[in-house]
Amino acid sequence: MSADFVALASKRQGFCLFRWVLPLALCAACGSDDGSGRRPSLGPALPSTDVETESLACDDGLAVLDFDATERSLAEAYADDFKIGVAVSRGIASGRDDAAAALVAAQYNRATPENAFKWQSIQNVEGEFDFSQADAFLDFAESHGMEVHGHTLVWHQQVPGWVFEAPGGQTLTREALLARLDAHMAALATHLGARVQYWDVVNEAFNDQGQLNDTPWRRIIGPDYIEQAFLLAGRYFPQAKLVYNDFSMEQPGKRDAVAQMVRDFKARGVRIDAIGSQGHFRIDAPSLDAVAQSIEAFGEAGVEVLISEMDVDVLPPASDSQGADLSVNAALSARLNPYVDCLPAAVSERATARWADLFEVFVQHRETVASVTLWGVSDGYSWLNNWPVNGRTNYPLLFDRELRPKVAWQRLIEAAEASP
Ligand code: XIL
Repeated sequence: MSADFVALASKRQGFCLFRWVLPLALCAACGSDDGSGRRPSLGPALPSTDVETESLACDDGLAVLDFDATERSLAEAYADDFKIGVAVSRGIASGRDDAAAALVAAQYNRATPENAFKWQSIQNVEGEFDFSQADAFLDFAESHGMEVHGHTLVWHQQVPGWVFEAPGGQTLTREALLARLDAHMAALATHLGARVQYWDVVNEAFNDQGQLNDTPWRRIIGPDYIEQAFLLAGRYFPQAKLVYNDFSMEQPGKRDAVAQMVRDFKARGVRIDAIGSQGHFRIDAPSLDAVAQSIEAFGEAGVEVLISEMDVDVLPPASDSQGADLSVNAALSARLNPYVDCLPAAVSERATARWADLFEVFVQHRETVASVTLWGVSDGYSWLNNWPVNGRTNYPLLFDRELRPKVAWQRLIEAAEASP
């Protein structure tokens, strides 16, 4: 599902101005989804009592009333620490949401294309390159003076099947797949040139235990495919910093394997400049210690760290999987989607504390952390409304569905302004 659809869907959730300034009881139209002014029902009785209590007590602690997001900027507040980035969707880059575009320009100084640089967006059919989305994104980022973090060259998701197929159903050879990767990078280098400052060369190659995932890239090229990709990228993008990007980098097995890979590459002259630690955090996991240890491990291996896709998931986990594996899916249920109408203040406060705690860790490691990129402009744009369960209402970012700054945003600005 595209981020554009997510944004559209979120706009349908309705908005009640008075929701933020009057007690909920006085606002009969709050939460109206269809313009009728009728408050939608909370749905079927929810099985878990604590969730039910929180939903019914919904009194919203989300919006900030006395802060103007156009006057204060996260990027400016953290200018002495690191860049503040954001994933920009196709709709925003192509001018379909002026208010969100203005927020991006005001708050962030680095941009990652949420989908526009992925293989399927650029070369969905072999040899037919479509740079329309990429061009729109680059024009947008450059017009606002933002640095560009390219995402992503080698990944087993959002890549068309033909990349791994040989004519007549034969097994593709290592040489043939490397040649396809070479041709893809060559086209990107010719078209995008030096406009990309960072490139995610390989995305999500390791499992939590630190072994290579069983992907077509690994099966066809062999276990040195990461190295081959970095060597190619080094030739085609000499001016860009080269990044290995993954989720759950706080898992000791994955963390240690990635740090070891960095040391090995450096020892053998394979250029790697940064680790992208996606930072798809849950409200209660991983621990702050684990986050700090992971940043330190990569810093000690000699690369900068980019917190590359940050969000804070406030919904109940849909599975045991703590990562951000796109292939994980679960069915929609009331239990998994408890905050359809609004986020209870108690949960909002926990999320606010989590944002503040995580940023404190990043600032403590600012010699290593070069950027913190949020995976979306506002709650309505977040992929977490549709992964791992399609159609949930999540609250994982710093601006709400009406693009108003949250208390968490205010807390982060104040923390930065108070720090020496
Ligand atoms: C997500 C996008 O946000 C969605 O719009 C898209 O439908 C699926 O991919 N890890 C990554 C990102 O590296 O590319 C993913 O982005 C989120 C997880």
